Amino acid sequence: MEAFSYHDGELYCEKVPVAKLAEQYGTPLWIYSKSFLLGQLKQIQTAFAEVDPVICYSVKANSTLGVLKVMRDAGSSFDVVSGGELYRVKAAGGDTSKVVFAGVGKTDEEIRFALENKILMFDVESEQELDAIAAVAGSMGVVGNVALRLNPDIDAKTHAKTTTGKKGNKFGMDIERFRELAAKVLRDKRLALKGIHMHLGSPILTTDPYEAAGQKAIEVVEALRKDGHDINWINLGGGFGISYRGNEGLPAEAYAKVIVPAVKAAKCRLALEPGRFVVGNSCILVSRVVFTKREGGKLFVIQDGAMNDLIRPAMYDSFHRLWPVQPSIAMPDNVEGEIPGCEKTDVVGPVCESSDYFAKDRYLPPMTRGDLLAIFSAGAYGTAMSSNYNSRPRATEILVDGADVKVIRRRETYADLVAHEIDAS
Ligand code: LLP
Repeated sequence: MEAFSYHDGELYCEKVPVAKLAEQYGTPLWIYSKSFLLGQLKQIQTAFAEVDPVICYSVKANSTLGVLKVMRDAGSSFDVVSGGELYRVKAAGGDTSKVVFAGVGKTDEEIRFALENKILMFDVESEQELDAIAAVAGSMGVVGNVALRLNPDIDAKTHAKTTTGKKGNKFGMDIERFRELAAKVLRDKRLALKGIHMHLGSPILTTDPYEAAGQKAIEVVEALRKDGHDINWINLGGGFGISYRGNEGLPAEAYAKVIVPAVKAAKCRLALEPGRFVVGNSCILVSRVVFTKREGGKLFVIQDGAMNDLIRPAMYDSFHRLWPVQPSIAMPDNVEGEIPGCEKTDVVGPVCESSDYFAKDRYLPPMTRGDLLAIFSAGAYGTAMSSNYNSRPRATEILVDGADVKVIRRRETYADLVAHEIDAS
């Protein structure tokens, strides 16, 4: 089933008219397609099935419990980067024994929490972190399973703010330190080296970086085995790209084609940490036009969604397709460039920052007060990065399954906004 499609001049999520949901639940509103979520996960599971991978859905991309539960029910494991994310996995009923824990700044409390929950392994990013895991594991009388995170110095050609596998990033360690720390683990009974971890950046729209990382992994694993390590996991992180503009996203199969042979050559198990690929196009943000205005030779459509909801355009200049929910002109396949009957428009939000926009100079059909707008590809790093900036309550999230509609997060109230604050009077 198509996740979002126009029929008779209006947008549907699966079998439900988006306008009906906006009427009932208000705007801004996040709407997810369950079948799309499941389809994306399945695509990865199938593409890599030959090596029986552990797919650890990357919680940071979207941590809403309703989404995590869909993942859990479909057999996904989880990649977390904080105690809070691990807590969410538990709250969603996830199996913690298949969780991987990445991130450059794990605290002792977080390490303890992860060890108590018997996670699969830590992705270790530095010597001090390794020492901290050894100390906490030692104090608990358990063994800390680790993968060392290699910075492979591969340019994945992503946005400067989302590249992670290049020399000079804060992530991982170079190969010399990797070998040094691996030797250190071998001497320490409180630790066990299980694998090698790499995450190259996000989103990555070519397979070359994964091919290079796979080759690197084979070399490292062989060398470590010679040194006496019983190492059997390759974790190639996340980063699979998606179509934000048109059809630029690759199928999971394309990534599998370069990764699977490397995993087989290294005789290892494979872990992956996909986030965006699974959730990115599963969700739209629906907003309502509050006002329009013409100033300085520009047309502004001011709608009730804002950078506190979806910060990606403000933060990374990222491109999101957007189009009215009940458009006067059908949405073309290519929404970039001039479109007949449309006018160059800036779509902005009510937050008091010039960076509060969803699109600039975008050709859009005429819109007026009260019209509904759909912002596509909002599922990854949308709600997960949302905030209460300008004291705006976070929006409702809806999961659609065929004709069924479920609220998975209710809209915050004004009372919620101040609920954790101490009255200073
Ligand atoms: N594993 C690790 C170690 C990561 O750092 C990340 C993302 C992932 C997995 C998942 O990557 P994905 O499959 O979702 O591409 N906020 C930015 C993206 C930041 C990505 C951070 N790390 C954005 O909105 O584009």
